[in-house]
Amino acid sequence: MRKKIVAGNWKMNLDYQTGVSLFSEIVNMVKDEVIGQQEVVVCSPAVHLYSLGQLAHSATNVSIGAQNIYQAESGAFTGEISASQVKSVGADYVILGHSERRAYFGETDEVLAEKTNVALKHQLTPIFCIGETKEERESGQFFDVIKSQLEKGLFHLSESDFTKIVLAYEPVWAIGTGLTASPEQAQEVHAFIRETLANQYNQALADSTSILYGGSCNPTNAPDLFSQPDIDGGLIGGASLKSRDFTDIVKVFNS
Ligand code: 13P
Repeated sequence: MRKKIVAGNWKMNLDYQTGVSLFSEIVNMVKDEVIGQQEVVVCSPAVHLYSLGQLAHSATNVSIGAQNIYQAESGAFTGEISASQVKSVGADYVILGHSERRAYFGETDEVLAEKTNVALKHQLTPIFCIGETKEERESGQFFDVIKSQLEKGLFHLSESDFTKIVLAYEPVWAIGTGLTASPEQAQEVHAFIRETLANQYNQALADSTSILYGGSCNPTNAPDLFSQPDIDGGLIGGASLKSRDFTDIVKVFNS
């Protein structure tokens, strides 16, 4: 049975006070909702993490994560944040390879492989994002793009390390655009990802890896998306900034 996960990615939104009060609301609203194998994660800007970590202690199954880490352990890297620093304030997750970081900050597959290694070394679970652009979808290259992102970013990992990875399929054309992949489009790619994992590692590993969908996911489209056999939850951007929308998405698994 693989874990169902709904993770919020606040991106560079919310000042400190607003973020802390939103997180308190989320913790209160999901307290009685989260059951069994389901996990709720909030990935906030780094300045919020310590306080959210304190609040998260009072909630079972609500975890916090960072949106990025640097690939070195420590040192003269002004402005960067390390895996051990993120871990030390109570985070359990880190988003890696988000398309915004790939596109705007030049993060390559090779750098992402290094970031994955340092995250795992410090017991942070990577939520590793992959997905194609609009042009890559329209030209029919998207399976190759996704396979290559997996191969270069993650397939150096041993089987036991790979079992600590959560994947997120985020088609770039669906992020922040209001355009969602249809449940069939998303399912097709999720099944392809699982098949690629089975070929590289084995079926048991493929069957136990949580693969989240991200891209304009909201309370209205989440039920159809999450009912697909290979979709194990969502990575939520805009809708994670409203406590009601985010918790309604969390509740999809309980309804
Ligand atoms: P939106 O839900 O705003 O489309 O963002 C998705 C995303 O990028 C989550 O990481």
